[in-house]
Amino acid sequence: MNEIVELLKKSGYSDKAIKYYVDKVNVGDIKDCDTRFAYTGPCGDTMKIFLRIKDDLINDAKFQAIGCAGAFASGSALTEMINGKSLEQALKYNEMDIMNYLGEIPEQKIHCAILAVRTLEKTIKQYRGIQQT
Ligand code: FES
Repeated sequence: MNEIVELLKKSGYSDKAIKYYVDKVNVGDIKDCDTRFAYTGPCGDTMKIFLRIKDDLINDAKFQAIGCAGAFASGSALTEMINGKSLEQALKYNEMDIMNYLGEIPEQKIHCAILAVRTLEKTIKQYRGIQQT
């Protein structure tokens, strides 16, 4: 694991981003979730977000991913950021908010943060009964 940590540091990941990746923060599923959706981004990586929602507030958020360290760090950050927020507030977060929250991830990894944002949008649309592909 130390070699991976060193590699991530050299690649430009902040200590916070590496910790999220290593600790797998919010990675998992929610058996009795209110909505879930899996989305595959243009890079071919897939994220699935699970939400528990009560009175329009997100009170639990987890995710799974088949993807890179950037996808995992972004998924951890976003699920943490939206916990306790209303659906409208959660939809306001964008990829730059994730990048700022993580401190630093390589600039070319911005599409990994976009994968997390898009997956969340689709998961909330699913909850609202909006058809999508
Ligand atoms: Fe696809 Fe990071 S390379 S999400």
